Amino acid sequence: MTTIGTAVIGYGYWGVNLARNVAGADSTHLVGVCDPDPDRQAVLAQNHPDADVWSNLDQVLADERVEAVVLATPASTHHGLGMDVLRANRHLMVEKPLSETVAHAQELVDEADSRGLLLMVGHTFLYSNPVKHLKNWIDTRELGAVQYLYSQRLSLGRIRRDTNALWNFAPHDISIMNHLLGETPVEVTAKGFSFIQQGIDDVCFASLTYPSGIGANLHVSWIDPRKTRLMTVVGDEKMAIYNDVSADQPLWMVDSGVARDSTLGEYESLGDFQWRTRAGDISIPRVPMVEPLRAEINAFGVAAAGGEPVPTDGRHGLEVVQVLAAIDASAQDGGRPVSIDRGPTDVAIAA
Ligand SMILES: NC(=O)c1ccc[n+]([C@@H]2O[C@H](COP(=O)([O-])OP(=O)(O)OC[C@H]3O[C@@H](n4cnc5c(N)ncnc54)[C@H](O)[C@@H]3O)[C@@H](O)[C@H]2O)c1
Repeated sequence: MTTIGTAVIGYGYWGVNLARNVAGADSTHLVGVCDPDPDRQAVLAQNHPDADVWSNLDQVLADERVEAVVLATPASTHHGLGMDVLRANRHLMVEKPLSETVAHAQELVDEADSRGLLLMVGHTFLYSNPVKHLKNWIDTRELGAVQYLYSQRLSLGRIRRDTNALWNFAPHDISIMNHLLGETPVEVTAKGFSFIQQGIDDVCFASLTYPSGIGANLHVSWIDPRKTRLMTVVGDEKMAIYNDVSADQPLWMVDSGVARDSTLGEYESLGDFQWRTRAGDISIPRVPMVEPLRAEINAFGVAAAGGEPVPTDGRHGLEVVQVLAAIDASAQDGGRPVSIDRGPTDVAIAA
């Protein structure tokens, strides 16, 4: 099988994992890695002695062996570097978030579309087996109709200066929720709180309304006592709990719900209805552990070679950025509802 010659840009915390997977995936091979920091270059040369070491993007794009680029630099650089990569006619995977503004995300999508290039965003969780399993439960209506869902992505540490907890953590939750429901929110309200660095929220609570009427809630924080990666989906028949921190039992299906009590006879009016909670069995499926990042990079290489399209394409990344921007706008304005206007040509955050 031919593999896609791939360069990784940015060899920081996450770039290390990306480069390892580009080198190891079936559909890609690692041509080289670019990072201007000499310390990072030294680590890189040790980890990947056969890979080229570059200091800037021009050097990367001058190399004809590079067919695709994986961008793992800070979010503020995604638009500028990403546009340079696309203009040089290379396929592009950008780490989440796709960019820091809706306009920039749209530009990246348009540039890739106009050149027939693959643009993918590193929304890693859509390649994880628990999320695939959960999506299958929802699509096959194992849970009945989804009523609402909520997520918590909390931890203590890796406090960033360049972005807030919302833009750092919530891309994952929004990506997963949009994917599970097959739709994108039309309105959000949010509250943010900053304690450590003035003007940079450490905590955010947001409520999302989907066009179907399904409500979602997300809570992100990087100053929390406990590392939590939890999503709960409540259906009208069953409920699901996805705990990404658990290596061996990431997914539970809880056969519980609320039903009309049929044992109490006939009712004269709606007000006489009796409701009964039903607490049934918990089932825990066997979900094979596969490194989501390996599956993600492999999917990137396959799609870049013209194979199966990816679920986290540029449009998916753009939709996530639209929701992040709307949440930010609401949080900065005391929780005012912000609707997300997605006209066919016009993408705007409507106040
Ligand atoms: N998908 C995930 O689960 C996940 C997890 C962590 C981080 N990320 C994302 O990965 C990206 C990088 O995050 P990180 O935690 O690795 O950051 P980091 O600060 O640890 O690393 C960034 C690296 O990029 C390098 N860099 C900066 N400007 C550059 C340029 N112009 N050209 C080449 N290299 C440059 C820096 O020297 C640094 O080594 C962010 O977008 C982040 O959101 C994704």
